[in-house]
Amino acid sequence: MAAADATEEQSAEPVIEGDVAPQVQEDDEEDDEAEDLPVEPPTEESHPGYEYIEREDDTEEKIELGEQLYFDPRISETGTISCNTCHNVMEGGDDSRPVAMGVHGETGPVASPTVWNSGFHHTQFWDGRADTLAEQAEGPIVADVEMGMPDHEAALDRVRAVDGYVEQYEDVYGDEVDGDDPEDLVTLENTVDAIAAYERTLVTPNSSYDQYVEGDADAMTDQQLDGMESFQELGCQSCHSGPMFSGQWDEPESGEGVYQPHPTFDDNPQCEEYIEEYDLMENPGRAGVTDDEADEFMYKVPTLRNVEHTAPYMHTGQVPTLEESIRVMAACNLDEDPSDEEVEDIAAFLTSLTGEYPDQEMPRLPNPSGESMIPMDADAEFEDIEEERDEDADEVGDDDADDGIPGMTIGAAVIALAIATAAALVGYTRRLNE
Ligand code: HEC
Ligand code: HEC
Repeated sequence: MAAADATEEQSAEPVIEGDVAPQVQEDDEEDDEAEDLPVEPPTEESHPGYEYIEREDDTEEKIELGEQLYFDPRISETGTISCNTCHNVMEGGDDSRPVAMGVHGETGPVASPTVWNSGFHHTQFWDGRADTLAEQAEGPIVADVEMGMPDHEAALDRVRAVDGYVEQYEDVYGDEVDGDDPEDLVTLENTVDAIAAYERTLVTPNSSYDQYVEGDADAMTDQQLDGMESFQELGCQSCHSGPMFSGQWDEPESGEGVYQPHPTFDDNPQCEEYIEEYDLMENPGRAGVTDDEADEFMYKVPTLRNVEHTAPYMHTGQVPTLEESIRVMAACNLDEDPSDEEVEDIAAFLTSLTGEYPDQEMPRLPNPSGESMIPMDADAEFEDIEEERDEDADEVGDDDADDGIPGMTIGAAVIALAIATAAALVGYTRRLNE
C-alpha cells in the first residue's frame, strides 16, 4: 500500500500495486531475529531499498537521460546552476548552505533538503506543495531564486537545440510520439519524468541501523544504542517514524502524521529562545499551501536518514549542528530538556542512519557542434518574456511558477490588496468630495 503512494502517478503506465508492495516484508525470519535484539529499535522496518520505488518504465536509458538533465547547468538562465548545485549527490544531496543560492547569487527563503531517498517521500517540499518527484521538478527550473528560466518553454528550447538530447528523448519516449519533432519529444512532462526516474535511484540502504534491525546485534556501537533508547524515551519517533524516520508511513493517504507541527511547545522558555535565534516561526509552513489556519507551522516530517551529512538544519537552515537540532526538537516538540550526554548519544544514534551511498559518476552531456547553448542575447530575450509573464501574473494572481515558500506570494497579495483597497478608498472619497 505504502509503495503505491511512495511511487508516483504521472506515468503513462502506472506500476501495479502488487508489483512493488511485497518487497518490504520478504523475510519473516529476519523479523523473528529482530525480536531477539538487545534493544528494540524505534522503527522495526529496515530501508526498503530501490525495488520499493522502482517503476516498470524506469529504463536504463531514461535514468541516464534524467541524470544528464539533473547535472546540466545549461538549462538555467545563466548556464551556471543545475539541480546538483543545490542537491549535490557527491555528498549529502544538499548544498551545506543555510538557504539555497540560485542564479545571480539570489537566495531563497528555505534550506535545500536532501535528494537522497526523496523517492520514498509521500509528499515533496518542506510544506508538501508537490505530491510527486516529477511535479516537484517543474518548480526549480523556473524559480527566480533557483535556475531562473523565464518559463518552461525557454528551458525546453535549450534542450531541443541539442541534437544529442533530442535523439535520447526519441530513444526513451519515441514510441509515445508520432514523428521525431523535437517539440513533441522534448516536453516538460518527459523532462521531469526522466529526472524523477534518476532521482528514484538515489537510495542509501544498509546503514548500521538497518543491519541491526535485520538481526546483527553488533552493527551499532554502545553509544548509538544508548542514543536509540533516549530517542525512544523522549518520544522522537512519535513524529520521526516509519522506515525513513519521516512520519507516518503505512497510510499516507489519510494525511495524518505526514505533517507535524514545529514548534509544538512554543511557550517552553528554552524553545522561545530557539524560535528567536533560528527564525523558526517566520514562515507559515503548510498553511501557506492550504490557507488553513490549522496548518500553520506544520511541516513535512523530514527524513533522519543521512542527517549527519545535511547540516545546517530545519527549513530555515539556521540550526548549525546536529546536537543543536536535537536540543531544539526536544524543547520545542517534546517540552523536554535532555542532558548533554543524552544529546550526544542521540547524535551518535542518528549517525547509525547513514546508509551506503551508491557511487555517482559525472555524466557526459550532449553538446551542440560549434554553437553556444546559452544564446548571446539570453538576458534581453528573457527580459521580454519576464515582463509578459509578470503582466499575466498580475492579471490572474498566478503563483504556480514560484518555487519559494508560498507565504511570500500571499504576502505580496496582501500588499496588493491593501494598495487596491487604498486606491478604491481614495477614489471613493474623491467622488464624495465632488
Ligand atoms: C538554487 C538551489 C536549488 C536548485 C537549483 C534546485 N533545488 Fe531542489 N530544492 C531547493 C530548495 C530550497 C528546496 C526546498 C523548497 C521548499 O521546500 O520550499 C528544494 C526541494 C527539492 C526537493 C524536495 C525534497 C524534499 O524532501 O521535500 C526535491 C526532490 C528537489 N528539490 C529536486 C530538485 C531538482 C530535480 C532540481 C533540478 C530540476 C532542483 N531540485 C533544483 C533548492 C534547489
Ligand atoms: C511533533 C513532531 C516531532 C517530534 C516529536 C520530533 N520531531 Fe524532529 N522534526 C519534526 C519536524 C516537523 C521537523 C522539520 C522542522 C522544520 O524544518 O522547521 C523536524 C526536524 C528535525 C531535524 C532536522 C532535519 C533536517 O533535515 O533539517 C532533526 C535532526 C530532528 N527533527 C530530530 C528529532 C529528534 C532527535 C527528536 C527527539 C528529541 C525529534 N526530532 C522530535 C517533527 C518532530
